[in-house]
Amino acid sequence: MVEFKGGFNSFLLLVFFLSFNIVLFVHGQPLSVVSDYGGNTSQIQTYIVHVSKPKGSNFLGAEDLENWHKSFLPNSTLDTGEPRLLYSYKEAIGGFAARLTPEEVRAMKKMEGFLRANPSQRFELQSTYTHNFLNLSTLFGAWSTSNSFFGEGIIIGVLDMGIHLPHPSFDDEGMPPRPKGWNASCNFQRPSCNNKVIGAQTFKYGPSTIPPIDKDQGHGTHVAGIAAGNFVDNAEVLDQALGRAAGMAPKAFISVYKVCWIDIGCDSIDVIAGIDQAIQDGVHILQMSIGPKPPLPDSFGMDDVAIGTYAAMQKGIFPCVTAGNYGPSQETLGRAAPWDMVVGATTTDRRIRATVTLGNGQEFHGETAYLSNTVIDKFLPLVFPGSGGQSDQMTCQNNSLNEINIRGKIVMCYVGRGTENIKKGDAVKNAGGAGMIIMNFLPNGFTTYSTPHNLPVSHVSHIDALQIEDYFATNSEPTAKITFGGTIFGVRPSPALAAFSSRGPAKYNGNIVKPDVTAPGVNILSAWPVEVGPFPSGLKTKTFNFMSGTSMAASHVSGIVALIMSKLKNDNKRKWSTSEIQSALITTANTFDLDGKPMFDEATYRNSANILQRGAGQVNATNAMDPGLVYNIESDDYVAYLCGIFSNNSTVVQYFTQNYTQDCTRSISGDQLNYPSIGVPIGSNSSRITVSRTLTNVGDAREIYNAKIIEPPSVKMDLSEYSLSFTRLEQQITYSMTFTMTGAHPGSGVYEQGELSWVSDKHTVTSPIYIAF
Ligand SMILES: *[C@@H]1O[C@H](CO)[C@@H](O)[C@H](O)[C@H]1NC(C)=O
Ligand SMILES: *[C@@H]1O[C@H](CO)[C@@H](O)[C@H](O)[C@H]1NC(C)=O
Ligand SMILES: *[C@@H]1O[C@H](CO)[C@@H](O)[C@H](O)[C@H]1NC(C)=O
Ligand SMILES: *[C@@H]1O[C@H](CO)[C@@H](O)[C@H](O)[C@H]1NC(C)=O
Ligand SMILES: *[C@@H]1O[C@H](CO)[C@@H](O)[C@H](O)[C@H]1NC(C)=O
Ligand SMILES: *[C@@H]1O[C@H](CO)[C@@H](O)[C@H](O)[C@H]1NC(C)=O
Ligand SMILES: *[C@@H]1O[C@H](CO)[C@@H](O)[C@H](O)[C@H]1NC(C)=O
Ligand SMILES: *[C@@H]1O[C@H](CO)[C@@H](O)[C@H](O)[C@H]1NC(C)=O
Ligand SMILES: *[C@@H]1O[C@H](CO)[C@@H](O)[C@H](O)[C@H]1NC(C)=O
Ligand SMILES: *[C@@H]1O[C@H](CO)[C@@H](O)[C@H](O)[C@H]1NC(C)=O
Repeated sequence: MVEFKGGFNSFLLLVFFLSFNIVLFVHGQPLSVVSDYGGNTSQIQTYIVHVSKPKGSNFLGAEDLENWHKSFLPNSTLDTGEPRLLYSYKEAIGGFAARLTPEEVRAMKKMEGFLRANPSQRFELQSTYTHNFLNLSTLFGAWSTSNSFFGEGIIIGVLDMGIHLPHPSFDDEGMPPRPKGWNASCNFQRPSCNNKVIGAQTFKYGPSTIPPIDKDQGHGTHVAGIAAGNFVDNAEVLDQALGRAAGMAPKAFISVYKVCWIDIGCDSIDVIAGIDQAIQDGVHILQMSIGPKPPLPDSFGMDDVAIGTYAAMQKGIFPCVTAGNYGPSQETLGRAAPWDMVVGATTTDRRIRATVTLGNGQEFHGETAYLSNTVIDKFLPLVFPGSGGQSDQMTCQNNSLNEINIRGKIVMCYVGRGTENIKKGDAVKNAGGAGMIIMNFLPNGFTTYSTPHNLPVSHVSHIDALQIEDYFATNSEPTAKITFGGTIFGVRPSPALAAFSSRGPAKYNGNIVKPDVTAPGVNILSAWPVEVGPFPSGLKTKTFNFMSGTSMAASHVSGIVALIMSKLKNDNKRKWSTSEIQSALITTANTFDLDGKPMFDEATYRNSANILQRGAGQVNATNAMDPGLVYNIESDDYVAYLCGIFSNNSTVVQYFTQNYTQDCTRSISGDQLNYPSIGVPIGSNSSRITVSRTLTNVGDAREIYNAKIIEPPSVKMDLSEYSLSFTRLEQQITYSMTFTMTGAHPGSGVYEQGELSWVSDKHTVTSPIYIAF
């Protein structure tokens, strides 16, 4: 996201050491506690209570609503004097958050208007790996922002840890005045909000006036910088001017909602409060790199945050969320609702190289962020404490190395999550080790990190790890050295799917393909709140730093959505619905990498990423701003979809719609939703399925599109028409597509993929096809 043009005049290398975990999370409540309101009847918990307004009631204002919500509570304060009511939600859901015992909730069940109570859940921010600044460089500078008005006039609501306001990425130089009528609060005082950061609010078990400072966690600052960091001229490191930095939408406004905390993570009652406030403030995009940790959801129906983003979507606000960092296993998605834009993470073509050379001359290129002047350039003995298979020693846990003589040696250690790897390095160093080779396990594949270690380290892929292990096992006096190669560009294959990126399918969303798209999310450079060392004097607030995770990927997409919105606005075009913007992003994504080969999956040796892993592929900002045709989803269609998902259960649909007279008069299956990707179930008894889709022309008035089909191996695809001739803007054409099984049923649980593209002289509109057998 950070683009630096010109001015490269020195080789800079800068490392600082993180001594904290990015976020310490308390384990959350199970995700689908419905019938039982928790085990211990006397224990106070926080609940989200859904209630239905009495028929014909018309509350005058927020106060009325709050009093009505309070009427459900036994009394207004706990014995401790704390208030019971934490939030009275206005927009995001129909209900409130309160402190209650399970017993009290049970009593509430009998009250008129009560619908449901869920214990609140704890979420986490979706970056698992923190990294350090090493070298400012061009990263995805190819994103075209030139004809997009840089996101001007668009407001991105960032729900996260807060922001480091003094960072020059959030300076308002060159920013237009705030939108008319914008009236969000700003909890910052000196300095206060400006024309870049136009709102700053805080939520922790109730609205708070604390400034939403992102002091040292960095996550909120980093994602805000990726989405909408302003141009930073002469971004400098140790007084060296390096050029210009910017986020995806450098002229978009940012409104900050601090809903995540180092001690509790992100509580669902605060996340919903953030959404509630963002809707009332009038943001255009919800940037939410917040997701569940295991146990991952198996239904979005009971996920109150999905209900909140549904409400936002109904108001035209675009929810952009993370796939999660729980790959490479299947079914590891944290979010899967059709109205949420779910983003997976890919690598870029850059590595910070640290090369391992073995005594026999074999070389392996790994990664680090270690200072070059202290590398190990002579061969030292190589030692593998875990060679006997003891798991503590294999992963170099602290104190597991005490019995082993590693003094002056290079130590082989298997990888851990995030900052664990820095601790392994410390353990090795404390035990006298000279260096460390971090080795990926099989599921970590080729995804490596430029982590700031305290000793010479090279992080290598699994396939390299096996060869190093083999050399170790077959040599009586194994040796190795580690040399530093600096920043390498043009690494292939790229972009490639990160091993950690969560993968589909989501078995509970009616075969809607998720994740939707991928975006850069490994070693991404963006704004950072704290000074960096070991020579911190030169940096002050112009600090940039690396982070990885689907958090970084989602914030790229938030920025691109701002570009699309501002382009439409400045071109005086019709405002697109959130589903039309989703369509533009999905139908123009690339499944091919920079060499034109299918996107590689870093969790494997040689497989390309499939539709369940990368969705429609890498988002392409230039293409998405001019998609030609879009698939729109009407409000009624979402209701019909929900009715289908919840088997005509109006009660559940009422939670989503906040319309307590809502009936399931129409019900459709997921494949019939006018979604841009097409997921179809072919059961053992249904060999043929027909779906229909409607396209809206947003390209040239007159344009002819011809169908191009890639059929799945076991399925024939037939279209009702093979050519679509549009003669005016906004014209809609509906086609249908029949999927017929050509041979024997491949077996339940098997899936196949295909593609349908509508191709004109100017546009290619591609729907990825997913068949679930
Ligand atoms: C229930 O919670 C109360 C208050 O926290 C505690 O004193 C009690 O031991 C708990 N009972 C059980 C069975 O866990
Ligand atoms: C509120 O109600 C609870 C039980 O429902 C009771 O234990 C508590 O004393 C009451 N608090 C006040 C201030 O009345
Ligand atoms: C702006 O918000 C404040 C409180 O946050 C409120 O008192 C005021 O009436 C609002 N003004 C407008 C024009 O909405
Ligand atoms: C390792 O353990 C020792 C002793 O228990 C402790 O002093 C040291 O801080 C630990 N090191 C790390 C990196 O956790
Ligand atoms: C930093 O990036 C520049 C520009 O690509 C490159 O020439 C240089 O080698 C890099 N420096 C280091 C220390 O990696
Ligand atoms: C976007 O797509 C266009 C055309 O398909 C291609 O030329 C371009 O390289 C892509 N851009 C990126 C950043 O992938
Ligand atoms: C739900 O009801 C509609 C209309 O009554 C009906 O067409 C549809 O088949 C029902 N769906 C399910 C899953 O029962
Ligand atoms: C509908 O869903 C609600 C909430 O989950 C549940 O209480 C109710 O029993 C369901 N109704 C039917 C008919 O399944
Ligand atoms: C609520 O649902 C009913 C039944 O579907 C519908 O007629 C009505 O228009 C809806 N009201 C709102 C405000 O959406
Ligand atoms: C498929 O059809 C057979 C025979 O008609 C029936 O016994 C079976 O339950 C059906 N399976 C499904 C999944 O509908």
